[in-house]
Order: sequence, then C-alpha cells, then structure tokens
Amino acid sequence: MAITVFENPLLFKLSTAHTHYSFRINQIGLAEHISYDVAVDDGSGLCQLAEAVNAHPFEPYWTDLTTFPQANCKDLLPQEFGGFNTGDYRIPALISKGEDGTPATDWRYVSYRVYSGVPILEELPCAYVGNDSDVQTLELKLVDSVTGLAVYLDYVVFPRCDVIVRGLRVVNEGRRAVTLERVMSLQLDLPAGDYDSLSLVGYYGQERLPERRALGRGVLQFSSVRGISSHGVNPAFAVMEQEATEDHGRVWGFMLAYSGNFLGEIEVPQMRSPRVLLGIHPELFSWRLRPGESFTAPQAFMTFTDEGVGGMSRHFHDFFRNHWLPSRWALCQRPILINNWEATYFDFSEERLLDIARTAAPLGVDMLVLDDGWFGRRRDDTSSLGDWFVNAGIIPDMAGMVRKINALGMKFGLWFEPEMVSENSEFFRAHPEWVIQISGRGRSIGRHQMMLDMGNPEVVEAIFRQMKKLLETVHVEYIKWDCNRTMTECGSSWLPADRQGEVAHRFVLGTYSLYRKLLEAFPYLLIEGCAGGGGRFDAGILRYSPQIWCSDVSDACERMRIQMGTSLFYPCSAMGAHVSACPNHQTGRVTPFATRGNVALSGAFGYELDLAKLSKEEQEMVREQTALYHQLNPLVASGDLFRLEAPGRLDKVVCWSFIAKDKTQGFVILCRLQMHPYAAPLRIRLKGLRPDAYYQIDGKRLTGKALMSVGICVALEERDAASRILIFAKEK
Ligand code: GLA
Repeated sequence: MAITVFENPLLFKLSTAHTHYSFRINQIGLAEHISYDVAVDDGSGLCQLAEAVNAHPFEPYWTDLTTFPQANCKDLLPQEFGGFNTGDYRIPALISKGEDGTPATDWRYVSYRVYSGVPILEELPCAYVGNDSDVQTLELKLVDSVTGLAVYLDYVVFPRCDVIVRGLRVVNEGRRAVTLERVMSLQLDLPAGDYDSLSLVGYYGQERLPERRALGRGVLQFSSVRGISSHGVNPAFAVMEQEATEDHGRVWGFMLAYSGNFLGEIEVPQMRSPRVLLGIHPELFSWRLRPGESFTAPQAFMTFTDEGVGGMSRHFHDFFRNHWLPSRWALCQRPILINNWEATYFDFSEERLLDIARTAAPLGVDMLVLDDGWFGRRRDDTSSLGDWFVNAGIIPDMAGMVRKINALGMKFGLWFEPEMVSENSEFFRAHPEWVIQISGRGRSIGRHQMMLDMGNPEVVEAIFRQMKKLLETVHVEYIKWDCNRTMTECGSSWLPADRQGEVAHRFVLGTYSLYRKLLEAFPYLLIEGCAGGGGRFDAGILRYSPQIWCSDVSDACERMRIQMGTSLFYPCSAMGAHVSACPNHQTGRVTPFATRGNVALSGAFGYELDLAKLSKEEQEMVREQTALYHQLNPLVASGDLFRLEAPGRLDKVVCWSFIAKDKTQGFVILCRLQMHPYAAPLRIRLKGLRPDAYYQIDGKRLTGKALMSVGICVALEERDAASRILIFAKEK
C-alpha cells in the first residue's frame, strides 16, 4: 500500500519503493512532519522519530494543553503547513487578509481521506496514473477557525518512481471574503543539519546551468517575476547533505508544475532545520475568495534519494515519462525534424522550403517545420503577431505546399507565438484593450511585441479560432509554440480593481486553456514548447508539450553543458536538440559535424540548417545519424541516465550514458570540449551496469564490474570538440 494510516496518535506513512514520508497529528491538532527519508520497516515506531523539541523558556507556545507545553512551540515543530502570526516565525505557506485587515492563520487538523488514483485539476496541469495501478492520494483537511479558511493538502504517491506530488486547494468556508496573498504548493521541514542547495540558473543562451551553494542561516530564494518561468532561474531545485555527490548521499528534489511567476525558498532558521517552500510568487499575486469559493494551487513534485543527484534525476525522469508528459508521446520516438530558422531566418519562399524538404526526405528526416515569418504581413520581427493567417505574398497556397511536402513522405509543422501580439497587427488595431497593461502607465515593449491578456477567455477564444481555422485547412501535425517576451506593467482592463493581483496567474491559466483547446480539437498534434530558446522550460509546459526547445544556442559545446544541466531534473527526451551549421551562428565556433549529431542524439532530435549546403560526405553523415537515432532513441526515451563526467573536470570532458532498464544495452556519449596536446588518455568509468555480466564495448569484452571500477580508455580525435558514441550490449 502506498498510504498507511495508523491511529492513536493519527499518523500517515506514504511509501514508495525506496522512501517513506511520514507525519502525525499532534496533541493540539497540528500536522507535524516526521521524516522524508529512506524506507524504514516499522511503521508504527515512526512516531518515536518525531523531532525532540527542546525549547528554551522564552519560546512562545500554545496554551491549550498545559501538560506538555514544549511540544506546542510552533516555531520549533517541523510542520506540514505552517501558520502565520500565531507562533511560528518561519516563512508561512499561506497568507490571507480578512476584512478586519489582520493577517493570521493557525492550521488545525479536521479530517482526511485516502483514495486510489490522482486528483483531477480542471485548470492546471496534473499528473495521471498511467500503467501504475498502485498510485494513491491522501487528502488532508486543515482549517483556520477564525477566518473559516480550509486547506485541502494533496499527497499523491507514485510508488514506482519514488515521487510524491503535492497539491493544495484553499476553500473559503467562512462567512466573509478574504484575499489570499501567498499560497505555496509545497512545504517541507527538514531535520537540522548542514545542507547545500542545487539550482539551475543562467540567462538567454546559457539556460539551466547547475549552481551548488552551502546553506547558511537565512533565506535563499529561487524565483521569477517575469510572467514566465524564465531563462534566469528554473522552478526546480534540490537540498542535499553537504557530503552528497552525483552518486551518493541524501538529496531532496523539488519542482513546480507551473509556467509563470514562481518562488522557491529555503529558510534555515535559528535551529538550523531548513524549511522548503515552493509555489506561485506572492509578488504580483493576490486572489479574492468570497464565501464558498476555492483556489487551487499548481502541483509540485518532490522526491528523496540517498543515491545522490543522479538518483534524484532518475526518479524525476521516470515520473515525467510515466505520469506527466502527454501519454501519446511520452515513451515513443518523435519525428526527426528539420527547422528552417537558422537555414533561412525570414528569407524563405515556397520553393526554398520545398528544396529543403527534397534534400531532407531521402536522408531520413521526417518533418519540415516552417518557423517564424509565414503569417500576416510579417517580413521581420516588427509586425503581425496575432494575425494567424497565411501571408499569401510569400506562400500563395500553404495547403498545396504541404501536400507536396507530404508527397515526399514528410510531415509538416508550423511556428506560432499564440500569447503575443505586435503593435503593427490587425489583431491589435481591432482590440488594443486585449494586452497586458496598466491604464495610464505606458507600455514597455520587448521584441516589438506585447503580451495578450490571456486571462480573458475572449482573447483565448479569438486566438484559438484563428489557429483552428488554419489547422482545419492546412495539414499541420506539429506546432512550435514560442513566447518571446516577458511580462511588464502587469495589469488588465478586463479585471476590476480589486482583482488586479490575479492578472499574472490568470495569464498562465489562459495559456494552459489554449493548449487544452488545441489538443482537444487536434489530438494528434505534437506541440514543442519554446520561449526565446529555453525561457519556459518547466513541468507546466511539459504536461502539454512533450519536448521544449532547450536554447537558441545550438553550438554543440554549449549544448553539452545546457543539456547536462537540464537533465538534473528533466528527461533528455524532453529537450529539443538540433544539428546546426558551422561556424555556429551564436558562438562562431566550428565543431565536427559528427559531434553536433552526437550531442543532438541525446535529445528530441532534428536539424536546423540548409542541408543542400552540406558536402556529400556530410549528407551521408546525416543519413547515418537519422538511422542511429532510430537505434538509440528508445534508450533516451525510456532508459536510465547516468552522468559520468561533468564539464569543468577531467580536461573539460562531458560524458553521460543511457542504459536500458534491464541493463542489457546502452550507449555512452563522450565529448572533450577542449583539446590539450599530449593529454593523458581519457578513462571513463561507467555506472549502473550488472557487475557480473559481460559487456561488449568499443571492440572489447569486459565485465560490468571492470567497466564501473577500472573503466575503459577511449581514443578521441586530436582536436577541440571531438566526441564519440560508444554503444554497448550485455552478452546473452
Ligand atoms: C525564438 C526561438 C527561435 C526562433 C525565433 C523566431 O527566438 O527560440 O528558435 O523560433 O524565436 O522568431
């Protein structure tokens, strides 16, 4: 059973294959966290593991129970959902303001229910059961008796992938309206100790690079207030023991399934027991709740492992692939695509596109994607977003062109930027009030465009109608959904003054609703997410888009770092990765064609160049790469990832491997970013093999144990960015 409930005292134990999460209801009805750690045998004995509270005489405590006041020092108790302004000084999970203006909450237990399966969220992405019938949910109800607010905390337990999904619904069961000013989806109080944090940070073109920091007392925040999850900080992070490594040690991983403003916090209070919080960013957020109304927070995922950062990654990867990515695409091979962006930018014609398709089809490419510039009157990035009809001046008959592409045996995909509008567009001229703006304040412009007020259902409907009309007449099987600016002057003319705090969250809900409408109308669509490269790479988008363009930087060396950082939390099959031209358009670097292919083969594979300009030899390599994709992709899609060498160590070598779950086959990708003359040979130690089995690798026959301990030396071409893929198989 995933969830066990013990009576007297009431104690909940959530079990996954390798972990236990437990909490109890204490004498005064507080939900007191016990532990989230490796699985232990004796469930009922867990109660004794509750933190021994050792309060000094000056700590405030709750006076209900005079016999045991120390246990009622709220500030010292690890809790599931901390109150505010009632004795717990740590950061609260929720802040609300009632009509009397006093913000205070004190959450006490009311009831629970356990059921099979998962909660269904209407407006937000939510996990599904998939093939695992053992998924169970615990719903815990706590109330604050003064405001009449109730919170329903969800714990959705996925035993096989060691992930627990947290969710939260706030219901106003009182008689007066309240305003929610902060609602965190997840709170976890960890035992006192010395920890590090691990997060993904960067900027445009350098997305999701790992950053590890020692945690001292105080508050560390990871956040975005840009309206999208952002290039700068990702809504995923970990807390780990200071001794933890890639392969060993305790790591707790957290991730928010949300694509807008978010806040992750790690507070190390005076007693050094960290409190982790994750949810919608309270800045630019408030939500009015009248009596009877409810607010649902986005889901957050958490996992625990004692197998280091690599163990955490594999838990999350399995979760994504079995319970989160659109099930139609989750575990299967995606089409190999060729995107015209870096081949032509805005300078394309029907003939040029057909030429690209004609060269690509016989080389094994499955789909042509027409990027930005096909709609309205757009010839550069200054106009026409919002006018989603074909620019007949460039492509006189789009449906006919697609038929020709289909006749070559290729599918067709199209670029959209649905949440945006150009000032110079018919759409904006007809509805200037439909953009995010604050009346009387002027507007910041990003890339000559504005964000639509997606919280307004009329706006969503108007964009949907245009897209639907086009998709009904042109055979489009893939959409690249872009989002090339961030939010400023967050305000809406559609919402009243007391609901302006809802604009940013409603924008996200509206975006998700457009995704759902499109997928309901055209269920076969493969939608790839994108946002100025990888500016919105998050679990929220991944519930609808099984793959996201990782970064606008397509240079193979940069991509090794970006894809490796991204893999800390997200599966490689979700990373759009293309082979592009050299010198690379963003870095000017020249890398071997083989390396560009090897790096992209670890992701959702494609090309982003004019294949007709390649030499015959390179075209032949394309044919080999597309064939190799079919051989290797099942391992990327459903195997286990092991990171073997991170950039920065061992002569700037990056190396990882994918291994089938049954450990019978796999491959290693190894790239030396920078060559040093007469450097020592590269020795790679594999991971995750069967120690006693024999494997064939690189013309050698070695046991798993030898490969994992002694390793193998790998010869590489003597130049920068030299790489190899080594395929291995277990002997029968
Ligand atoms: C963004 C995307 C690119 C491309 C351009 C088109 O920058 O990340 O891949 O689609 O927009 O304008």
